[in-house]
Amino acid sequence: MKHLIDPTDLTKKEIDEIVALAEDIIAHRERYQGSMAHKKLATLFYEPSTRTRLSFTAAMMELGGQVLGFSNPQNSSAAKGETVQDTVRVVGCFADIIAMRHPIEGAPLVASEVSSVPIINAGDGSHSHPTQTLTDLLTIKRELGRIDDITIGFCGDLRFGRTVHSLIKALSRYHGIKVVLIAPDELRLPDYIKQDVCEKMGVAYRETDSLDEAIPELDVLYMTRVQKERFLDEDEFDRVKDGLVLDARRMALAKEKMAVLHPLPRVNEILTEVDEDPRAAYFRQVENGKLVRMALIISLMEWKDDPAHTMPEHEAPIVNPALHCANAKCICNNEKHEPRFRLAENGITRCWYCDSKVR
Ligand code: CP
Repeated sequence: MKHLIDPTDLTKKEIDEIVALAEDIIAHRERYQGSMAHKKLATLFYEPSTRTRLSFTAAMMELGGQVLGFSNPQNSSAAKGETVQDTVRVVGCFADIIAMRHPIEGAPLVASEVSSVPIINAGDGSHSHPTQTLTDLLTIKRELGRIDDITIGFCGDLRFGRTVHSLIKALSRYHGIKVVLIAPDELRLPDYIKQDVCEKMGVAYRETDSLDEAIPELDVLYMTRVQKERFLDEDEFDRVKDGLVLDARRMALAKEKMAVLHPLPRVNEILTEVDEDPRAAYFRQVENGKLVRMALIISLMEWKDDPAHTMPEHEAPIVNPALHCANAKCICNNEKHEPRFRLAENGITRCWYCDSKVR
């Protein structure tokens, strides 16, 4: 069974096929209108969402399929204590494919272990958001005409921003990617992405806290919301926040062809004066999200029983009762799941479900 839990569940070839299919849908929308007739998508959203849930819904409707699900777990039997695995076993009796968003990291992974239908991770905590990644890749391709050979700046909350983590993982498979990480010390990219992805895959990266300094060299600027609630010291937040706001003055420092992406929602990190700049791609990116999810649904439905499209092989997990995942938001600390670990780069042991360091 082919699921999409992490961007690396797709080979680069499969990602390129999905992006190419999305481009074909754009060119020949009518050809795909009935392709999911009599099929049902379940959207199980345990966490708020506007773009992801509604774009999955619109995608399935445009393909001629139907949608069921919930947008608030309080209206589901999760409120009575039903586990994620029991829920997907049940929903698999009603739907042909499931998109799940969950605040607990690793929840879509444990769902995929028992599901009879493909599971799509629509965002798990601060961990991963692979369908946003497909959206971002399609947007970069449409805006710049290529994904290879780009310098991309990630600006804002790189620590908790799951869209940043997932996109760096996917881009690490492309040629000539240079990454500039623009964030204050408090919000720097987690070590596991720097070590297990950038260093392992040979992606050149550097870190700075100055958008002014970084912006002239960028082909893509990927903005994210700076999360005030993460700062212990409000003075510290005030010191850094304006250095990470995109305005017309900073756009004047950028290349003529730079594309500005943002997974949205934004708060105040991109001033509305930037919206009319032709390089502001973030609302076009939203439309791309629906198109690429159409392509993903078609692909996973085609691939689910195809031995040419399996999940990647991993080494057997490490099971050791002396080890504990340090992440309170990991599924293994919230439901009864056997703690499992993997040996990552530099000999560091990480949680199988959420990639946190062990304690
Ligand atoms: N980009 C994104 O995931 O937006 P939502 O939280 O609105 O789905």
